[in-house]
Amino acid sequence: MFSQASHNSRLAAVAPLAGSAGLSARVQELINDLRPDHADLLTALHRIQHEYGYVPPEAVPLLAGQFNTTPAIVFGTIDFYSEVRTAPPAEEVVEWCSGPACLLKGSLRIRRALEAELGCGMNEATGDGRWELRLVQCDGTCHLAPLLRHRGRYLGPLSTSEAIRFARALKGPAQAAPAPEPPGEPGT
Ligand code: FES
Repeated sequence: MFSQASHNSRLAAVAPLAGSAGLSARVQELINDLRPDHADLLTALHRIQHEYGYVPPEAVPLLAGQFNTTPAIVFGTIDFYSEVRTAPPAEEVVEWCSGPACLLKGSLRIRRALEAELGCGMNEATGDGRWELRLVQCDGTCHLAPLLRHRGRYLGPLSTSEAIRFARALKGPAQAAPAPEPPGEPGT
């Protein structure tokens, strides 16, 4: 799963970051039964994210200590998996599938439309924390391509104009007027 550093520093104790003692204690409780040098780091990340909605930075030194590795290795693992969050989620998270079937069916146009409508880039949130776009991988629901996921629901197959209407509805009734089909993209 993740590669272990080969130098001795991975075995050195890692000082915890200054932060909430309660959070650190809870994170340690969540990972106590997981074994070092075993592919349990993903399990640890899942548990922490399930509890907090993301993996707080205070958890990284604790994970490094639990798995006898370095914070850099833990950060590298977190960075590798797009599903692992490093910041709290926005109020509304819209997931955009980056898989091949969705791409073939025009998902890039949907992505551009959402970024313009919601005012944030992929894997970013708006400054007020209301909306966020997340890139996700194919989960096998390609018959709905191109699709979005929102609040655990699948939306698809979507045209670009339907995606625009969805984004406007998300922003509120005043923005929910029907969107025209973008020129040159009929049926997408
Ligand atoms: S490629 Fe998007 S669901 Fe499979």
